[in-house]
Amino acid sequence: MRLRNKPWAEQLIQEHPELISVNPTDMAGKWQTKFAQVQPIELELGSGKGKFIIEKAQKNPQINYLAMEVQTAALGMILKRQIELQLPNLQLLQANGRDINSLFAREEITKLYLNFSDPWPKTRHTKRRLTAPNFLEQYQDILLAPGNIEFKTDNQGLFEYSLVSCNNFGMKFDEVLLDLHQSERAAANITTEYEEKFSKKGQPIYFLAAHFK
Ligand SMILES: C[S@@+](CC[C@H](N)C(=O)[O-])C[C@H]1O[C@@H](n2cnc3c(N)ncnc32)[C@H](O)[C@@H]1O
Repeated sequence: MRLRNKPWAEQLIQEHPELISVNPTDMAGKWQTKFAQVQPIELELGSGKGKFIIEKAQKNPQINYLAMEVQTAALGMILKRQIELQLPNLQLLQANGRDINSLFAREEITKLYLNFSDPWPKTRHTKRRLTAPNFLEQYQDILLAPGNIEFKTDNQGLFEYSLVSCNNFGMKFDEVLLDLHQSERAAANITTEYEEKFSKKGQPIYFLAAHFK
């Protein structure tokens, strides 16, 4: 998903280093210092416009949340909301996930969310899928045991690929749902922008919870 360019976003990001870190080279092992309180850090990789992570942070003040996204326009939208809300347990990070383990120390993150990640359907782009082994290896390093990941998608091809990839990597599955919104998890589920869009069209939402260790 590429959002239309938002000329104001870059300047807004530069004006708020207290809320957003841009391609940091020195933050590994220090993320707790960005938050008001030392408490578990959960990370969403590919936060889009931030609906999910903002609601998570509002509902769970006992957890610190990090919204990681590569697109300036999307981050500008999250940042605008966070400037209004000033949630003490939400920080933003602009960086590309392909180098994720250079951004964090080992075991610095308690849980990882991958929501409606880009499907990259062409075989030659397999390595760009956020559940490809080159990503799983890095997640395993930065996640504290048991190394929890939650993954949601509308895309059957990406879901099937992810099940195989996580299984081949030796991950243990905690829950696999073929229709999240018709499950016991539905009541507590916090939706993302993409999830709202696809479920309104009647598409089922696939869900995987798994751990490494
Ligand atoms: C399809 S959108 C989904 C957005 C949101 N999670 C949702 O469910 O509404 C995928 C998002 O992941 C971001 N993204 C994709 N690959 C990424 C990467 N390697 N590093 C950081 N962000 C990435 C994209 O910029 C885009 O905003």
